[in-house]
Amino acid sequence: RPRCIDAAAGVLSVDRETETLRISNDSRGTCIAGICHLSLTMASHWEEFYTTHLPPTDFEDNRILLKEFCDRHNKTGQRIVLITSGGTTVPLEHNTVRFVDNFSAGTRGAASAEYFLEHSYAVIFMHRLKSLEPFTRHFSGQKFMDMLELLDQGPNTTITVKPDSVDVLAPVLASYKNAQEGGRILYVTFTTVADYFWLLRAACECLAVFETKAVLFLAAAVSDFYVPSNEMPTHKIQSGAGAPTIQLQLVPKLLAPLVNLWVPHAFIVSFKLETDESILIVKARDSLNKYKHKLVIGNMLQTRRQKVVFVTKDSSYEVVLKREEILNGMEIEDPIVSNVIASHSEFLKTHQY
Ligand code: PMT
Repeated sequence: RPRCIDAAAGVLSVDRETETLRISNDSRGTCIAGICHLSLTMASHWEEFYTTHLPPTDFEDNRILLKEFCDRHNKTGQRIVLITSGGTTVPLEHNTVRFVDNFSAGTRGAASAEYFLEHSYAVIFMHRLKSLEPFTRHFSGQKFMDMLELLDQGPNTTITVKPDSVDVLAPVLASYKNAQEGGRILYVTFTTVADYFWLLRAACECLAVFETKAVLFLAAAVSDFYVPSNEMPTHKIQSGAGAPTIQLQLVPKLLAPLVNLWVPHAFIVSFKLETDESILIVKARDSLNKYKHKLVIGNMLQTRRQKVVFVTKDSSYEVVLKREEILNGMEIEDPIVSNVIASHSEFLKTHQY
C-alpha cells in the first residue's frame, strides 16, 4: 500500500487516517489540487461498507424527500441543519432477532431540533425509529393521555384537554404547527448502522448546495463495531449449539468522507461521549485534529444533561446549567444551540463562497 507516489506535477500522498489522497506541489504536502478520494488508487474502508451493505427498503423514498426539502429551502437562501439523533443498531442475524444497540434516548437531538427551528433554521431530523422526536418528546409515555378528558361516552363522545394542561400543551402545539405548516422540518429514520450510512450520505449529497449555510449536528450514537454481512448467519442463532463466538469488526468513521468529500464547505459539529472525564477533552481534540472539522462537543454520560464542553482547534469552554436554571425547566440544548449558531454566524462572515 503506497504512502507516497511521485507524479509529474507533484506528489500524491495518501492519508491513511482520513482515507483521502492529497496532490501536493512539494514534499511538505502543500495542497495544490484539492483533496481527491482514495478510490483513485484503492477502495477505502467506508466505500467497502457501502458495497457490502444494501440500502434500506425506503431509501429511494427518503432520497426524494431529502432532495425536495433541500431544493425548496436552498431557493430561499435559508440556513439549514442536519441533526442526527438516537443510537444505531448492529444486527447479529440477517433475519434479525438479536442485535447490539447503542445507548441514546434521542433527547439531545430532539430538543436541539426545536431550538434550531426557533432560530429559523430549516431542520432535517435524521433519527432512530421510535427514539424521541421534537415536540412529542414533551408528552411521551402516559403524559399525553393524562392531559385529556373523555366526556360523555357514547354517540356524543367529546375529548378535551384538561384546563390545567392547556398552558403546557399550547406553546408546544403552536411551535409544532408553525414548523409543520411552514414545511421547515423533515423527519427521516434509521435503525441499523447500515441504514444510517446510506441516509447520511444521501442527505449530504442534497445538502452540498447550501455550502457554508449548512450545519451538520452529529449527535447520534453510531455503532463502532459490527458483524460484516458475509459473516452473519441468515437465521436466528440457536442456543442449542452452545454460546456463540461473535467476532465484531470496526465500523469505518464517516467523518472523513463527510468533511473531505461530501460537504466540504459545511459547518460540521460532532459529539464525543465518554465515561472517563480525564480523557474527554483529549479525545475531542484528537477527533478535531484527525478530521479537521469545526467543533466537537464533549459530554460525559453521567452529566450530559447539565454540562458539555465545546472544543475547537484553539480553545475549549464549558457550557453548564446552573441549579436554578435546571429547577426552572431550562434545557442544556438551549445554550448548546445558541453557541453553535453564534459560531456558525462567525464562520459565515469569513467563509462565503
Ligand atoms: O440521546 P441522548 O440520550 O440525549 O444522548 C445524547 C448523546 C450522549 C448520545 C450525544 O450527546 C452524543 O454524545 N453523541 C455522540 C456519541 C458518540 O460517542 O459518538 P462516537 O464517539 O461514536 O462518534 C463521534 C462522532 O463521530 C459522532 O459525532 C458521530 O456522528 C461520528 N461517527 C461515529 C461513528 C461513525 N462510524 N462515523 C462517524 O462519523
